[in-house]
Amino acid sequence: MRRKIAIAGALFAGTLMLASCEKKETKEEKPKEEKVKKKEIAKVPKGGAYALADSKGCFACHDINRKKVGPAYVEVAKRYAGKEDAVEELVRSITKGSMGKWGSIPMTPQPVSKEEAEKLARWILSLK
Ligand code: HEC
Repeated sequence: MRRKIAIAGALFAGTLMLASCEKKETKEEKPKEEKVKKKEIAKVPKGGAYALADSKGCFACHDINRKKVGPAYVEVAKRYAGKEDAVEELVRSITKGSMGKWGSIPMTPQPVSKEEAEKLARWILSLK
């Protein structure tokens, strides 16, 4: 009789532990992701070039400070920091495409005007 109670107790405790573990996992993972996203977005002013990049679909492949298909914009800003022709080079990459600078995946020419590309390039370079 006592043994049965002990086993039942152990099972009950086990179930509780499992339940609390599961809860913890889902609880911890989601807000973390949201937090990171919020932080990234909070860092850059909305509107202006951010809204332009958003409307042109750049964020499908790029993020502010996380590598996606393409490099993080912060990394781009760091690499080109202090380079005199940085704006021109990025405008060229955005409007004509870029290959082999960041990895094996190329970026196709983006559907933006030269003026838009310049605005985006200056904005990206300001993100470091
Ligand atoms: C389909 C995916 C994709 C989209 C959409 C995309 N990019 Fe890229 N981008 C890439 C990849 C991949 C690279 C790395 C290319 C390389 O290695 O040379 C890159 C590289 C870049 C670079 C660095 C170029 C250099 O010369 O170092 C800039 C700046 C950039 N993208 C800006 C943009 C902007 C602005 C947009 C939106 C108008 C955009 N990208 C949309 C995939 C994309």
